[in-house]
Amino acid sequence: MSYEVTPTVEGEKVEFSNPAQAFYEALGYEGMMDMMNRFYDKVFESEIATFFPQDEQEFEAVKHKNTLFFIQLCGGPKIYDEHLQDKGLNEHMIKIHEDFTINEKSRLEWLGCMQETLEETDMDQTLKDNFWEYVERFSKLTVNTFPQECRYVSSL
Ligand code: HEM
Repeated sequence: MSYEVTPTVEGEKVEFSNPAQAFYEALGYEGMMDMMNRFYDKVFESEIATFFPQDEQEFEAVKHKNTLFFIQLCGGPKIYDEHLQDKGLNEHMIKIHEDFTINEKSRLEWLGCMQETLEETDMDQTLKDNFWEYVERFSKLTVNTFPQECRYVSSL
């Protein structure tokens, strides 16, 4: 089923595969850039907008780095490598998100923006499903904040 979301469970091992190279081949550099621009335009209007730089130039830089990352992730040219700081692509990406307090609600908002973006992208649904499987799973590794019991109010 397309665009299924399963909840993040704290401490659970997350298995994922990088998206198929065919996703990058279908869109090309310009297509990936267009997709990321549309995705971040949605993020900018979403509940998670405050996580991101409000300065236009800085925001453009985030969009650009995302494009480079996703192209390399999908088996395209290694154009994100210079940002890796001696880590693997996925390990580096988890580390970047550790600087932010990301909970399940933020993850769902991020995925919602991505779902809308993919729905508006004209390409084979099988490729979109494959890409979705990666973001749905990998996004669990960006969640680093879970609901806590309050020792004064047990029903929270
Ligand atoms: C599949 C899941 C995700 C992927 C692949 C992903 C990918 C990326 C990439 C490539 C960058 C730019 C890295 C760089 O600066 O070199 C980034 C930055 C960031 N992402 Fe994600 N992301 C994911 C999920 C999320 C989620 C759920 C949130 C929730 C709020 C989030 C928030 C951020 C923030 C705040 C930044 C930093 C922006 C800045 O530089 O100020 N990401 N992400």
